[in-house]
Amino acid sequence: MSEKKLKIAIQKSGRLSDDSINLLKNCGIRFGNGVVKLKAEARNFPLEIFFLRDDDIPEYVADGVADIGIVGENVIYEKEKDVEIIEKLGFGRCRLSIAVPKSFVYEDFHHLENTRIATTYPNILGKFIAGNKIKADIHNISGSVEIAPSIGLADAVCDLVSSGSTLFSNGLQEVEIIMQSEAALISRKNLDGDYRKLLDKLLFRVKAVIAAKQNKYILLNAPNDKLEEIIKLLPGMKSPTVLPLAESGWCSVHSVINENDFWEIVENLKLAGAEGILVVSIDQMIK
Ligand code: PRP
Ligand code: ZN
Repeated sequence: MSEKKLKIAIQKSGRLSDDSINLLKNCGIRFGNGVVKLKAEARNFPLEIFFLRDDDIPEYVADGVADIGIVGENVIYEKEKDVEIIEKLGFGRCRLSIAVPKSFVYEDFHHLENTRIATTYPNILGKFIAGNKIKADIHNISGSVEIAPSIGLADAVCDLVSSGSTLFSNGLQEVEIIMQSEAALISRKNLDGDYRKLLDKLLFRVKAVIAAKQNKYILLNAPNDKLEEIIKLLPGMKSPTVLPLAESGWCSVHSVINENDFWEIVENLKLAGAEGILVVSIDQMIK
């Protein structure tokens, strides 16, 4: 292996920082944190980690300062840099929405006609406005968008919403969802050679971590006469593992189930006669 190192940019502090760091750690990559530093070196993978402002990440990746990065789709689409989305990561889910004061009577987007909308997402908002043929004034500000209406700077805002508490505590109501967003792994266009190989190696691990998060390992005891019915309830990776228990007439059944169907399946398993059901998280899952 060459001595080349892949450089990854992640958010220094903000909504995506912890999950980005945890993703790399769950990929088995060990490194110091970026609380005081700008850069860390992985101890057991040819990777350098840069801790940056999320808004700058697409540009650094496009310019080759970093080879890859983890950043929200909201930032990727806003910045319009020449980067490629390699994999959506399933965390940092939020939406970019238009919100207006609670007293604003809003029925549809025509009510935005001739308003001033404050945002840090002028490109995405501009497209929404043009696409809907509305005339509105975009106030591109650098932060604290949510206070713009109360200080008379704008009639509406276009900002990220995740729990909704920022809007709520500023007396705003969400009226239009412009885009849904989640964190994504991006790379410079046409990453090649050794860098591509390193990315593929990392991606293999990332996919295993994501798949693991979406699935649970389930173990249960089944009476032999109910086994067929119980097995039908379990999709599994191939088919469930069935092992005899020391007590005759019973077996132990092991399988993997999707987190989304989990409670439904567990209920049905119980009704079908399963006992001693254990559910265990999976660290990595290689399909
Ligand atoms: C976003 C947005 C709001 C907040 C909304 O900021 O600007 O302030 O999150 O979240 P809530 O609905 O849970 O209250 P973010 O932390 O992403 O900062 P950034 O835009 O500066 O990166
Ligand atoms: Zn930001």
